[in-house]
Amino acid sequence: MTGRSGGLTAPRMIGQQKNLERLHDGCQRCAAAALSAQSSFVREKDDTACSRTVVNVMALCICTQEAVKLMQEKNINDGQIIHISSMGGHRLPANMPGANFYCGTKFMVKALTEGLRRELKALKSHIRIGSISPGMVETEFFDHFLKNDPTRKASDLFSSMKALQSDDIAESVLYILRAPPHVEVHDILVRPYDQAL
Ligand SMILES: NC(=O)c1ccc[n+]([C@@H]2O[C@H](COP(=O)([O-])OP(=O)(O)OC[C@H]3O[C@@H](n4cnc5c(N)ncnc54)[C@H](OP(=O)(O)O)[C@@H]3O)[C@@H](O)[C@H]2O)c1
Repeated sequence: MTGRSGGLTAPRMIGQQKNLERLHDGCQRCAAAALSAQSSFVREKDDTACSRTVVNVMALCICTQEAVKLMQEKNINDGQIIHISSMGGHRLPANMPGANFYCGTKFMVKALTEGLRRELKALKSHIRIGSISPGMVETEFFDHFLKNDPTRKASDLFSSMKALQSDDIAESVLYILRAPPHVEVHDILVRPYDQAL
């Protein structure tokens, strides 16, 4: 499951969706939600807020719903869903005010993960749900995130500390997948050793 750190547009996601109407409806609802939050996020443009919410929240919801549906259709009762969240879904970072809205979407992922866990239990399903909440990972994320910031570059961040690598996150995925049936990993919080907050 993927997400948006910035810059990319919702229509790309829409182009990949077979169920256009559901995503479109979701976008309309997200626009309202973003507008209602505007006074708190003075620098977030409506269209950016909408597309970030669509990709980080709605796309995750739709992928999750489709995955559960597919597993149910194929009588798979021991599947595993993994939401990629963030340390930003647990706290606001100290030195990144521009991350406030992004973190809001990840707080929502946290609630949705717990909500899905409860729904699956209510359905008496053995499909398990878990999430991974990384701190700073060396990907293209910060290139997108800082693209309008003249004061900082992604390379500055990565030269200031040894960030997590994609393989470190892959290890967390494997840990979740290898868990025996009686173990449901709920969330893995993992940050670089040098990341203070
Ligand atoms: N890197 C970090 O420090 C960090 C920390 C915490 C959490 N995360 C989370 O980890 C996840 C993956 O991020 P990453 O670090 O791998 O970032 P990334 O290198 O920027 O990759 C983002 C991925 O999302 C895809 N994507 C973005 N917008 C899309 C759209 N509108 N439609 C379809 N695909 C779209 C991109 O596709 P293309 O390759 O086609 O552009 C890319 O594969 C995200 O959920 C992010 O919030 C990252």
